[in-house]
Amino acid sequence: MSEPIRITRAATKKRKPKDSELTFGTVFTDHMFVMDFQEAKGWYDPRIEPYGPLSLDPAAAVLHYAQAVFDGLKAFRGRDGRVRLFRPQKHVERLNHSARRMCIPPLDPEQALKALVELVGLEKDWVPSTVGTSLYIRPTIIANEPFLGVRPAKSYMYYVILSPVGAYYPEGMNPVKILVVDKYVRAVEGGVGGAKTGVNYAASLYAAEDAKHAGFTQVLWLDGRERKYIDEVGTMNIMLKIGDEVITPPLSQGTILPGVTRDSALTLMREWGLRVSERQVAIDEVARAARDGSLREVWGTGTAAVISPVGELAYKGERIVIGGGKIGELTKKLYDAIVGIQYATAPDTHGWTVPVEGRAT
Ligand code: COI
Repeated sequence: MSEPIRITRAATKKRKPKDSELTFGTVFTDHMFVMDFQEAKGWYDPRIEPYGPLSLDPAAAVLHYAQAVFDGLKAFRGRDGRVRLFRPQKHVERLNHSARRMCIPPLDPEQALKALVELVGLEKDWVPSTVGTSLYIRPTIIANEPFLGVRPAKSYMYYVILSPVGAYYPEGMNPVKILVVDKYVRAVEGGVGGAKTGVNYAASLYAAEDAKHAGFTQVLWLDGRERKYIDEVGTMNIMLKIGDEVITPPLSQGTILPGVTRDSALTLMREWGLRVSERQVAIDEVARAARDGSLREVWGTGTAAVISPVGELAYKGERIVIGGGKIGELTKKLYDAIVGIQYATAPDTHGWTVPVEGRAT
C-alpha cells in the first residue's frame, strides 16, 4: 500500500462498557476506517475518522440490489495484556473471495491488514480482557454508486467498525437447541451461499423467526436441492462426531461459508490424529446415529460464537438429544485450544495471531 492512512480523531470519547456488561454487537468504538473506490482511481483515500453515520445517496446500488459483502473477525487481549488479531489474513482472503462473487473490486490484502492493525491499535483501550470477551471487527464493502440499472456498481465504500463483545448466544457455553429446517432453503449450488453477503442473512430470517417462536436458538439448513444433507447453521458451520469419525459438510458445493474457525478446528483435529472427513452427511444418517447411540457430539464453529455445543436437534417432530444436553469432550477440547491461542495462554504454533502494538490514545 502506498497511500498513508489519514487519521482524524474523535473530539469526544464514549463511555466504555465494563466487561460484565458486554453482549453482542450493540456498542461501537470511537473511530472507524473508511476507504473509497472509483473505477478510474481504484481504492483510494484510506482514512480513520470518528465513528458516525454514513452519507448515502438514496439511489445507492446497495440499497436496491444488495451489492455488498462483509466479514467478521476478532481482536483479543491476552493474559499478558497485549492485543492480538486472530487470523486476520484469512479473513481478508475470505472478504476478497466474497467480493469477487458479488462483482465487487477486491482489496489489496496487505493494505487491508495494515488498516485493521492501525484501527485496532488506535482503539486498543476498547479491547476487553475477560475470557469470552473480545473486540469484534466488522469489515464491510458497499456499492454506493447512485444508479438504478442492474449491473455492478462503479463506486464502492469500504469501512471497518469495531464493537466490544461478550458471548454471541445468551446460552454462553451451554448447549444450544437447533431446529432442522426442510421447508425453506438458504443456498443452492451455483448460488451465493459461499459468500459472506447480507442477502444470505436476510434470506435466513423467516425460518429463524419460526425456530425462535418454537423455542430454538438457531436453524440448521439442509442442501437446497434434495433437502437431505446438512449444510450449516445460521451463524456457524456445523461439525459432528459419529463413532470415531468427525464429519463436517464440504466447501466444494459452494453453498456453505468457508469458516475461519471451521478451518482452525479442522487443522487442530487433524494434528491431534483424529479421523476427520469433509463430506456430505444426510440428516437421516445423523438421526440414525442418534438412535443407535453412535452420535457422540455436535457443535458449531464461527467467529462470533467460537465453538458452540449443540445439545438438541429437532427434525420432523423428532428430538435428537446429544450428549445428555451437556458439552462434549472434543467440543470442550477444541474450545480450550482455540481460546488458549486467542488469549495467549497457549503457544501460537500456527502463526495465527497478529500482535497490535497500538498508539497512545
Ligand atoms: C461471525 O461469526 O463473525 C458472523 O459473521 C456471524 C454473524 C453474527 C453474522
